[in-house]
Amino acid sequence: MCGIVGYAGKERCVEVLMEGLGQLEYRGYDSAGLALHREGRIEQIREVGRLDNLARVLAGRNGELSQVRTGLGHTRWATHGRPSEENAHPHLGGAGGVAVVHNGIIENFSELKEELEARGVVFRSETDTEVMAHMIAERVEAGETLRRALAGVLQRLEGSFAVAAVSVDEPGKVVAARHQSPLVVGLGQGENFLASAVQALLGETHQFLVVENGEIVEIAASSVGVFTTSGEPVEREAFEVDWDAEAVELGGYEDYMLKEIHEQPAALGATLLDRLDSGGVVDLSEVEIDLSEIDRVVIVACGTAYHAGLLGKHAIEKLARIPVEVVIASEYRYADPFGDDHTLVVAISQSGETTDTLAAVQAARSFGARVLAVTNTRGSLITREADAVLITKAGLEICVASTKTFVAQVAVLDLLALALASIRRAIPERELREFGRGLRLAPEKVEETLGILGNRVEQVVGIFEDARCSLFLGRGISYPMALEGALKLKEISYLPSEGYPAGEMKHGPIALVDEHCPVIAVLGEGLIREKTLSNVEETLARGASVIAIAREGDKGAERMAHVVLPVPEAPEILAPFICSVPLQLLAYHVAKNRGLDVDKPRNLAKSVTVE
Ligand code: M6R
Repeated sequence: MCGIVGYAGKERCVEVLMEGLGQLEYRGYDSAGLALHREGRIEQIREVGRLDNLARVLAGRNGELSQVRTGLGHTRWATHGRPSEENAHPHLGGAGGVAVVHNGIIENFSELKEELEARGVVFRSETDTEVMAHMIAERVEAGETLRRALAGVLQRLEGSFAVAAVSVDEPGKVVAARHQSPLVVGLGQGENFLASAVQALLGETHQFLVVENGEIVEIAASSVGVFTTSGEPVEREAFEVDWDAEAVELGGYEDYMLKEIHEQPAALGATLLDRLDSGGVVDLSEVEIDLSEIDRVVIVACGTAYHAGLLGKHAIEKLARIPVEVVIASEYRYADPFGDDHTLVVAISQSGETTDTLAAVQAARSFGARVLAVTNTRGSLITREADAVLITKAGLEICVASTKTFVAQVAVLDLLALALASIRRAIPERELREFGRGLRLAPEKVEETLGILGNRVEQVVGIFEDARCSLFLGRGISYPMALEGALKLKEISYLPSEGYPAGEMKHGPIALVDEHCPVIAVLGEGLIREKTLSNVEETLARGASVIAIAREGDKGAERMAHVVLPVPEAPEILAPFICSVPLQLLAYHVAKNRGLDVDKPRNLAKSVTVE
């Protein structure tokens, strides 16, 4: 997705912009550019392809650019118009006195473009962004300040966007605004920053301000102002982000995905800390919703977060005996949802910026539901839309494929299940505490799983060399794990993969099964294990190679499967955490074996903020 960085302050503008864009690289982009306020004009420098291409051009001009104090940077993911230098941001408006960078989509851009063309404006790109550059420039040329011009233009825009602009007439200033697309202000000493995500600025500051929909922000070296569109100043408190800049280093790992898989024990430890005591008693007093009034739960989320939601349903229904629906966020708002203020809508989003999940939250609010956001990102849009927030403390996740944030989401939902169960006295307190104590073991059991697996997963990837597709099977709590395993594998290795309830296999998917369709069975325990093993038999009879994820020492699994990826003995509540590890490592090693970039799968970005 596109990235924005803005800077006003010292003579290190180019360095800050490039560093910031570098921290957003993992989100995906196909061109990059800067607009620099220099020697009484705005200079636009843009290159197609990787940021390195832009860096090479800048390196050749180091001397000239080292005086620049104000500018904008952008990485573009093409939406309107192909990836090309002309379509790369920043875009200049009018005679070149205004430069604009933009994330999102201006839905009414054709109509605005026609109006501008009718007034003689000549367009230099195929983008929707360029209309904004010209509209702002027209107003600035007519004598308005940049801030006022931007405020005026905002009234005409439809869609979701974050936009930042500089004007030749106002050296030392950057103005910006947003509507349904993220934008934060970073606070410095004698310098200030703007970015579409806090990650871009962690090397510079940990103090941030949020910008709300429709507000205008103006930064200069020693001031930051937030204003309404009519120009009234707005008071805004800073918030602190405790992620450190080291989170964006590989720390000896080959890829972020592998690093983040190994960070899962720490992610779980931080997420559970202070929320679950050694006796297994949960404390979710941070949730500012009266949970005793809740009689129905709806979980909305996308992708991996949706799978965490399915696991949350198991936990809440089992422990708290409250009915739970789990709905894919992009479906929710079109499903004519209903409920009342006894309905708790839990919206799960690692980024807190996913458009569909935000839309689902708005739909829930429209009928008066209480909304609880589960997110990894403090200050994200979802935290501002919800009645209460539970932060997953997984730390910054850079790899597009979610791993540590998934287990942290499941842990938070387990905590919620325990809290609801305790309030409702749904099961005896003694049993609840036992679940709680079991959950506390999550970090160490995941650590143990990593140890038991060692390099076993790497050794089984040969099974996938001639694979045409793969089938992940599970029952009960293992079914969401099968879905998640299949998503991880297809996402980063591009091997078509299905996740299915094992018992449903015979109703269609079995047609896929042959020697070119490895089957990965997440066995689980008890009756579920027995039944899943029977399904595995059926796939063996059709020539499939079978990988079983089973408890260490499970003789039945060892006899039947070609390969067993063992997980340690653990309380039932920990099954999703320990089974995640072999599934994630399998996806990782299959992709590596295919020579793919696991951190940045094709066609995907870390956060899906534009529909
Ligand atoms: O930021 P979100 O949790 O809202 O993102 C939702 C999905 O896009 C995300 O979980 C996606 O499916 C994963 N990156 C897949 O690994």
